[in-house]
Amino acid sequence: MLAIRLVSGSVRPDTLVLPVRPGGPDSPAVLVPTAAPSVADDVRAEAEALLPAARLTGAAGEVREHLRPGATPQRLWLLGAGAGDEQDWRVAGAALARAAKDETQITIELPDDAGTALRGLAEGLLLGSYRFRLTDAGTRPSLAGVDLLVTDPEALADTLAAARTTAEMTALARDLTNTPSSTKHPEWFADQVAAAVSGRPGLHLRVREPRELAAEGFGGILAVGGGSARGPRLVELDWHPAGARTHVVLVGKGITFDTGGISIKPVPAMKLMRKDMAGAAAVVAATLGAAALGLPVRVTTLAPLAENMVSGSAFRPGDIIRHYGGLTSESTNSDAEGRLVLADAMAYAVRELKPDLLVDLATLTGANAVALGKRHAALYSENDDLAADLLAAITSAGERAWRMPLADDYAEYLASDIADLHSSPAQGAGSVVAALFLREFTGELRDRWAHLDMSAPSWSDDVHGELVKGATGWGVRGLLRWLGTLG
Ligand code: BES
Ligand code: MN
Ligand code: ZN
Repeated sequence: MLAIRLVSGSVRPDTLVLPVRPGGPDSPAVLVPTAAPSVADDVRAEAEALLPAARLTGAAGEVREHLRPGATPQRLWLLGAGAGDEQDWRVAGAALARAAKDETQITIELPDDAGTALRGLAEGLLLGSYRFRLTDAGTRPSLAGVDLLVTDPEALADTLAAARTTAEMTALARDLTNTPSSTKHPEWFADQVAAAVSGRPGLHLRVREPRELAAEGFGGILAVGGGSARGPRLVELDWHPAGARTHVVLVGKGITFDTGGISIKPVPAMKLMRKDMAGAAAVVAATLGAAALGLPVRVTTLAPLAENMVSGSAFRPGDIIRHYGGLTSESTNSDAEGRLVLADAMAYAVRELKPDLLVDLATLTGANAVALGKRHAALYSENDDLAADLLAAITSAGERAWRMPLADDYAEYLASDIADLHSSPAQGAGSVVAALFLREFTGELRDRWAHLDMSAPSWSDDVHGELVKGATGWGVRGLLRWLGTLG
């Protein structure tokens, strides 16, 4: 990973980056005042003189190179920082990482109040330079080191560490989600969690295998995983710091591949279904991040893992599933598998773990993108405070979600003639009805639960801001920020 250092004092870089911001209507961009000018005033004066001709708007992510033959620095870059909020700096950092892919080392001057800028810029640099490759073939030399010039490196060390942990955990979630399903199966995923946990004190991991799942009555996980040669698992990861007063349970959908099962998906809908465990990846990574940052909140993460396959042992449309705790559901569409595994894990959390708050993340429905497009998750909760807190954390971390209604008049569609619930009603809005199904498993936590349908923002079709093509790691940043607000 890219090495980012905080430095102060005078340096003599080859490539110096000076931030700029919009200068106002019809005016050229202006230099952002920086705390610790690294170089003689004449370089700044030169940059200033360049601005009217440079046709920069100062928008976040603009990068303009100015060559200075025979001089130091040899290259002077102007970097748009927009209005200077954290997300602007994140976008700027990612754009800089892309622009600097052929450099080995660059130096950036940060503004006086460097905290916000540092958090955004460092995350942007790290997230924007993320690459997922199975082989080294064709990898190009890439930016190795970034020096950030500030007045007081010591005072900013914790902010940089938080940015680094956040980016590392996001990269872990991206790696898990990008991994092809030929490699990635429930046991493999559980092994990856075990590897990440080892050497981190305060974390406890339990992985349930099919025999234990059967003994304890996890009927949804077993039904969905039944068609695969690679059996299901339930990961239970606990971060339990001494003195924690709040206990959060996070649940993440972990379908390592979703063929749709007997209700098989058509080719275009199936091609990306290796990402159907992005919720599990995000909650696991956020929990590891909470531990790495030493957040004083107890977090138990449940990741029900299964591969939804087509075979002689697959569950059938019309089967009745008995979930953990005893509620039954009729499944007429084996492609509505996510809610079946989540139901088990949520019922277990409510009955056995009895947390203060319950939050689940799932690539649950294609309808998420129909309603909100490719970049917003759908947030559901009956608790206005919890919804507002989550939305605020998600937004300030640079992710996006939109609150959706748990419309009670759709609840009747969940009725079944032969079971307690119908898992895939033909009526109602897809993402809403899925959320209403999950609500049936929240028991006494009904008003302390939030559900995030994040199938749309879990994947990016193109390079966009701090996102690269492929898995985004959506949820890691927002969850970590939210967990950081809990005592
Ligand atoms: N994993 C899919 C949802 C999905 C679709 C995620 C597109 C990402 C992109 C989920 O298991 C699914 O198949 N949902 C069905 C539900 C339906 C059968 C009630 C859907 O959305 O079509
Ligand atoms: Mn499905
Ligand atoms: Zn699915």
